[in-house]
Amino acid sequence: MGKEPDNKRVAEATVDPLFINRWSPRALDPSPIPPETIQTLLEAARWAPSCFNDQPWLFMYADTAELRATYLEILAEGNRVWCKNAPVLAILFARRRFAHNGKPNNWAVFDCGAAWMSLTIQARLLGLYTHGMAGFSKESAHSLLGVPQGDYEAVCAIAIGRYGDAAMLPADLRDMEKPNGRNPLATIARRGIFKA
Ligand SMILES: Cc1cc2nc3c(=O)[nH]c(=O)nc-3n(C[C@H](O)[C@H](O)[C@H](O)COP(=O)(O)O)c2cc1C
Repeated sequence: MGKEPDNKRVAEATVDPLFINRWSPRALDPSPIPPETIQTLLEAARWAPSCFNDQPWLFMYADTAELRATYLEILAEGNRVWCKNAPVLAILFARRRFAHNGKPNNWAVFDCGAAWMSLTIQARLLGLYTHGMAGFSKESAHSLLGVPQGDYEAVCAIAIGRYGDAAMLPADLRDMEKPNGRNPLATIARRGIFKA
């Protein structure tokens, strides 16, 4: 494993370092993640809040060479380049309808976001990283993994692993391999009534 890049992020308010130290590396180490660790990550996701406690998330995942080859096919080429080293790949699906009444669940994707972040924070607590990806084919996710499109929506691809070595990345990705910044705190929230 290589040295992790310096984290130059600066918090504007008091916050647990866990949040600053979460970022999305591409240089993931190929060493396997034990099945019980994967279960721990999924357990964290399981306790996320959801509308009507519907728990609309479905994490499909690959942790063997054979399964990862299938999941790699789902990814956009730009993500395949670095995801080929990731020991675990996942696709997160959202169940489209509420279990209790069959009506469309307009909050399912929001709830999946909460579940993914719980998984991500648990990963960090174990010294692992996650990297979410919109760059994948929803069609292939459904067809290759056999998840019915009428019942589920493919939401996000996820790579999981320990930090690896940036030297294994192509030059363009190596240059981007560091924690990035954020918009100022004052721009993301307003007290009271919105005024232009
Ligand atoms: C929904 C979502 C989709 C993303 N899609 C991609 C992607 O396809 N490829 C990629 O390399 N990074 C992707 N990212 C990573 C973002 O670029 C990254 O989270 C963002 O720049 C903030 O950086 P940080 O996660 O390192 O703090 C995605 C992240 C999220 C949450």
